[in-house]
Amino acid sequence: MCGIVGYIGENQATEVILEGLQKLEYRGYDSSGVAIHNTKGLVVKKMAGRLSNLISSIEKDPINGNLGIGHTRWATHGVPSDENAHPHTNKAGTIAVVHNGIIENYMTLKKELMEKGYEFKSDTDTEIVVNLLDMYYEGDLLKAVFKAVERLRGAYALGIISSNNPDELIAVRKESPLILGIGEGELFVASDIPAILNRTRRVIYLENGDIVRLSREGYTIYDSEKHVVQREVNEILWDVEAATKDGFDHFMIKEIYQQPSAIKDTLFRRLDDNGDIYLENINIDKKYLDSINKIYVVACGTAYHAGLVGKHVLEKFLEVPVIAEIASEFRYGNNFVDDKTLMIVISQSGETADTLAALRLAKAKGARILSITNVVGSSVARESDDIFYTWAGPEIAVASTKAYTTQLVAFYMMALNFGKLKGTLDEKLYNDYLQELKEISEKVGYTLKKVEDLAKEVANKVKDKRSLFYIGRGLDYYTAMEGALKLKEISYIQAEAFAAGELKHGTIALIEEDTPVIAIATQQEMYEKMVSNIKEVKARGAYTIGITSINNADLENVCDKVIYIEDTISNYMPLLSAIFLQLLAYYTAVVKGNDVDKPRNLAKSVTVE
Ligand code: F6R
Repeated sequence: MCGIVGYIGENQATEVILEGLQKLEYRGYDSSGVAIHNTKGLVVKKMAGRLSNLISSIEKDPINGNLGIGHTRWATHGVPSDENAHPHTNKAGTIAVVHNGIIENYMTLKKELMEKGYEFKSDTDTEIVVNLLDMYYEGDLLKAVFKAVERLRGAYALGIISSNNPDELIAVRKESPLILGIGEGELFVASDIPAILNRTRRVIYLENGDIVRLSREGYTIYDSEKHVVQREVNEILWDVEAATKDGFDHFMIKEIYQQPSAIKDTLFRRLDDNGDIYLENINIDKKYLDSINKIYVVACGTAYHAGLVGKHVLEKFLEVPVIAEIASEFRYGNNFVDDKTLMIVISQSGETADTLAALRLAKAKGARILSITNVVGSSVARESDDIFYTWAGPEIAVASTKAYTTQLVAFYMMALNFGKLKGTLDEKLYNDYLQELKEISEKVGYTLKKVEDLAKEVANKVKDKRSLFYIGRGLDYYTAMEGALKLKEISYIQAEAFAAGELKHGTIALIEEDTPVIAIATQQEMYEKMVSNIKEVKARGAYTIGITSINNADLENVCDKVIYIEDTISNYMPLLSAIFLQLLAYYTAVVKGNDVDKPRNLAKSVTVE
């Protein structure tokens, strides 16, 4: 977790770094800091709390200088506090370090350093890095970095400066993301592109193990063997405007409203001249599909919920067993991954540590890796054999919305394409499904209009509740899981999802007078059973809200409120029912006055296991 920005050039480093950190707050925002080199040596300012605190403090007391590093933190080792905020410095205050990730062997190193007389001011693992550098430093900062890095285990991106080397900035990338930005007479490092996009569009994605020395003359990249290497310079074509709010109150609502166009982009850019699916970056053919005996679908949180829907459609269209697993649990199971396994990983950010760990484990066991990700050049993308990019554009709000629905589209497209290739999905069905998929973005748009006011109304009804239940059967159960997660993360209301038929096996004991139960009932073949399950909770006093596209008085009779969404084929209903649940979560958080885009305790990109 955490965001890093580094700068060397002729402009004011503080200005460049603070601007960059603002774009990286999605990576963590419990404390922040900068270290700037100027005639006084290294000037460090850091503090707990939101980045805006640091900005106001620096406005009152500006720091000049054109070399510096900055950081926005999401706590791992040690509480959010001034002491634990980055940058960290050595005792003499001559070396400063910012860090994203985790140093796994920090306890051993800390013990060794303490035995050598080093003192520690913070609880962080980062402080061992700066003290290691101090120990190895003999005038050449790069050499000290080479030596220190050899001692570190774990995942980390580092930015390092020293007052004794006023013309250089060293950055290191191991597992945690880091890019190098190339401007006119200035250079940048950052955890992500939006941080520097106002300044340059020329970017290098550093490779795992890379160490880069930035100086006023240029940059040199060394690989993990310390050999000088050349890396491709990429021109970033998307706009920084895409990462701003465009008049919406929050990024989340903007992103909810971007869904019709995000879905369209993801879908229509993958249709050939005949309107047929063409999956670029995926080289899977009939022979391969015939050779596999199972598919694993692995991801975290919302991406996992998309994976559950994916499991359902892949099994249906491909007639192959599909196992969906939460990435952080994947390695503990007795999994049966081998070279006849296709592993599909889903990750909006492409940097989620749990997902990457599962990917690497499966790869080591011979699985072919197909990833669904929203970030071009991300670690997940780079370590995969095949990639499906969801062209949703940058997702800034912590609560995932457009990434989720485009992940669903990715699964639908792949299931259709693979089913056709394999011959398990007949031509007519394929054509009907594809035709309907081409119309789905409009239905998402209509649904948005249809349900927004209803979502506000229900939000006002549930805002003060202690807990809520979400129920559904089949695909609707997966949607219930996603709806409950959305509500929890931004409204802070306890919300649980249950398979509707499972309630009577225990959970129904929790239903009392006026407990809200949101029942998703979009699947025709399970409709009657759902109505019975809603009756069961209604009889125990629940306030029931039904979500459906099915016009049938039965639901009206058992629900206090029915939300009608657009209709589509049952497999695609999760795309439409999710819309109401996203809006409900959003408006509940808004009426509660919560920080919608940056909910407490969370960060957008979870790069620790
Ligand atoms: C919830 C949410 C998280 C992410 C999860 C995986 O709204 O955003 O549950 O889905 O942390 O993140 P990615 O997709 O970046 O791997």
